[in-house]
Amino acid sequence: MVKKICGIGAGYVGGPTMAVIALKCPSIEVAVVDISHSRISAWNSDKLPIYEPGLEQVIQQCRGKNLHFSTDVEKHVYEADIIFVNVNTPTKTSGLGAGKAADLTYWETAARVIADVSRSNKIVVEKSTVPVRTAEVIEKILVHNSNGKIKYQILSNPEFLSEGTAMQDLLNPDRVLLGGNDSLEGQEAIQKLKDIYAHWVPQDRIITTNLWSAELSKLADNAFLAQRISSINAMSALCEATGADVSQVSCVLSKNTKLGSKYLNASVGFGGSCFQKDILNLVYICESNGLFEVANYWKEVVKVNDYQKSRFVKKVVTSMFNTVSGKKIAVLGFSFKKDTSDTRKTPAIDVCKGLLADNACLSIYDPRVSEEQIRRDLSTNESHWDHSIQAKSTSFTSAKQVSVFADVYEATKDAHGICVLTEWDEFKTIDYRKVFDSMVKPAFVFDGRNVLDVDKLREIGFIAYSIGKPLNQWVDC
Ligand code: NAD
Ligand code: UDX
Repeated sequence: MVKKICGIGAGYVGGPTMAVIALKCPSIEVAVVDISHSRISAWNSDKLPIYEPGLEQVIQQCRGKNLHFSTDVEKHVYEADIIFVNVNTPTKTSGLGAGKAADLTYWETAARVIADVSRSNKIVVEKSTVPVRTAEVIEKILVHNSNGKIKYQILSNPEFLSEGTAMQDLLNPDRVLLGGNDSLEGQEAIQKLKDIYAHWVPQDRIITTNLWSAELSKLADNAFLAQRISSINAMSALCEATGADVSQVSCVLSKNTKLGSKYLNASVGFGGSCFQKDILNLVYICESNGLFEVANYWKEVVKVNDYQKSRFVKKVVTSMFNTVSGKKIAVLGFSFKKDTSDTRKTPAIDVCKGLLADNACLSIYDPRVSEEQIRRDLSTNESHWDHSIQAKSTSFTSAKQVSVFADVYEATKDAHGICVLTEWDEFKTIDYRKVFDSMVKPAFVFDGRNVLDVDKLREIGFIAYSIGKPLNQWVDC
């Protein structure tokens, strides 16, 4: 009988995932541990470290009962029957595979703690997204200290939640994937994990595979989703060149039951902590296996995404008479998608940096992202995955060229143009007449998410552009 679960890593995945297990399994004690004191104290406060619709209610219901947040990693690992490892696995920034391979430092540290403090058999669950065959390496670390007395079973249970809908995705998942080895012990471990999910997930949505299929399926899943976005974004460029309308094209595609309707929204580009990282990880694995053609195929998905972001910047600059120097441009939305405060790899960073490089003055508004976070993101220099030359430092200029507002009307006042970079619902109900009246004329709108009614905007007097659409709208789909 599983009595205690420990989740290592209290981030975007660890926090919500462990909270839902606590909610659905009241007889199990769930401890979520993290090395970050600030994160844990935020989980224990009224201001949670992440914004996710529906999360706060579940935390309030379970915290202090069977859900605990702590920095005492050793204690909770020692006591647990099952340990979920939810730590970050970012792209390596130096050494072998830099810019592509997954950095497993955090995972290795977690595995060493498990190996050092465990005195009873444990099931160790890979929740983080890891390269295929990671379980093999982890096993070597785990057994180094056990003298054969402690038995570990490693399971792969990748997480498929999307940010912004994490609670919905966790409470009603379309699938739960469990990978384990074929041995009797491996199958028993799978059964124990299955029994936990069976508290709320129907049996037919729980898929079991071998370890390597489970690990690879997660990378494949993200690569396929991102590939669809890059495919429709590539079509959006062709639409703009030919007078076709990408919304009409994607509507047609979506009615093809072989394709389905999801992930066909053209945009300024995909962002988030997962897609680029996981595709590059896949690219690195292919290269390591000598599969260079396969690696190049997946690399193109990331290249098209970069192209889409720079194409957007170019569109803004060329439309505004080939210069944005000294012009105020209002940026609406900074998070990588709506309903999250997460800005990791948000397209807004690259678009803002592109506009700043052309000496624009940015006034940024996002309903959930703090000014501190925006300034941090715009002053951090990241090396580009495809070439090692570091981008020119923008930190000094950006501090002077960037203002952040808590009110959309303040942000757009006296602006020459507006760029919508996140599809927050509230952007649809802004009083655009009021906004237009307060802007410098001609007033431009660039809808990087295709969420605004551009016909209405044009009626008001805006010069309005959207992704992959002709200047005159005709949408009947
Ligand atoms: P995150 O950075 O939000 O959280 C990771 C947490 O782990 C951090 O709080 C960090 O302090 C903690 N940590 C790192 N090393 C530790 C250690 N040794 N001991 C204790 N705590 C440690 O990351 P995330 O977004 O939650 O992602 C976690 C994993 O899940 C990644 O592998 C990611 O690819 C995968 N994933 C993420 C998402 C998503 O939408 N964010 C979805 C599916 C899968
Ligand atoms: C993704 C996967 O969806 C999820 O299964 C996995 O577990 C983690 O990675 P996430 O990154 O949270 O989830 O968000 P997602 O909704 O997939 O969006 C990723 C990016 O693609 C966002 O920037 C979003 O705006 C963009 N997107 C999505 C599009 O541009 N067009 C679309 O049609 C869909």
